[in-house]
Amino acid sequence: MFELKGKNAIITGGMRGIGFEVARVLAKQGANVALLDVNLGENEAEKGITDEFSVRAKGYVCDVSNTDAVAGVFKQVIEDFGQVDILVNNAGITRDSLLMRMKDEDFDSVIAVNLRSIFVTTKAIIRHMMKNKWGRIVNMASINGIVCQPGQANYAASKAGVIGITKSTAKEFAAKGVTINAVAPGFIRTEMTAKLTEDQVKMFESAVPMKDMGLPEDVANACLFLASEEARYITGHVLSVDGGLNA
Ligand SMILES: NC(=O)c1ccc[n+]([C@@H]2O[C@H](COP(=O)([O-])OP(=O)(O)OC[C@H]3O[C@@H](n4cnc5c(N)ncnc54)[C@H](O)[C@@H]3O)[C@@H](O)[C@H]2O)c1
Repeated sequence: MFELKGKNAIITGGMRGIGFEVARVLAKQGANVALLDVNLGENEAEKGITDEFSVRAKGYVCDVSNTDAVAGVFKQVIEDFGQVDILVNNAGITRDSLLMRMKDEDFDSVIAVNLRSIFVTTKAIIRHMMKNKWGRIVNMASINGIVCQPGQANYAASKAGVIGITKSTAKEFAAKGVTINAVAPGFIRTEMTAKLTEDQVKMFESAVPMKDMGLPEDVANACLFLASEEARYITGHVLSVDGGLNA
């Protein structure tokens, strides 16, 4: 089940948190992985994946909010790997503040990284996938694009937008062998949520029907399913991974 041997995947924001776990889970199933990130760090994450799963893993510096950078790096990945079958649009940022204090640049940067990037990366890969008559695109939405919180006008708008672009593009390419779905995580333990205070974490945990935060691998397993051949008849779907928050 969920065999990905011989498939090649691009994961944006792949060097830590949920993105890195997505790369590990796809690699475990045999996929070669290209990890795109604005910051490659010094932790040799790709080498760890290669050593553990005997697949090809390579990191690329790429700011997904920069159209030219995306075009250049995608071309390079196709050259390096020969073919790209799976794209996981995971890169995301928060710049939370109440609307009256939110700066224009905080609104614009969150939209550019979380939403506009998906328009750009999808355009950069879709012809290639259509030519191969097979492709899987998984976009990272959020519970906060469905049940929205105050102080996140930028983030909530970007993640609601991710759901919109997912459904629209899913219909555009449904007859071309390319499925496009979204995953909507709830509260997941990563550096993004490490910014929350202990009181906030307790409050959020008590609101979750499962009474616990999720782990990056919970989200990664949902991405694996949507990236697999087994999910071939599913497109335009938003899969919540949130311990029941959105039930
Ligand atoms: N952690 C959660 O609770 C949670 C909940 C719902 C949705 N999400 C979404 O999941 C995704 C991953 O979140 P995470 O918690 O792992 O975050 P994280 O901050 O731990 O990791 C995000 C990664 O994206 C990279 N990145 C940031 N800006 C980038 C850019 N412009 N270009 C390329 N890479 C960039 C970062 O360097 C980092 O490696 C995001 O889209 C986030 O909105 C997270």
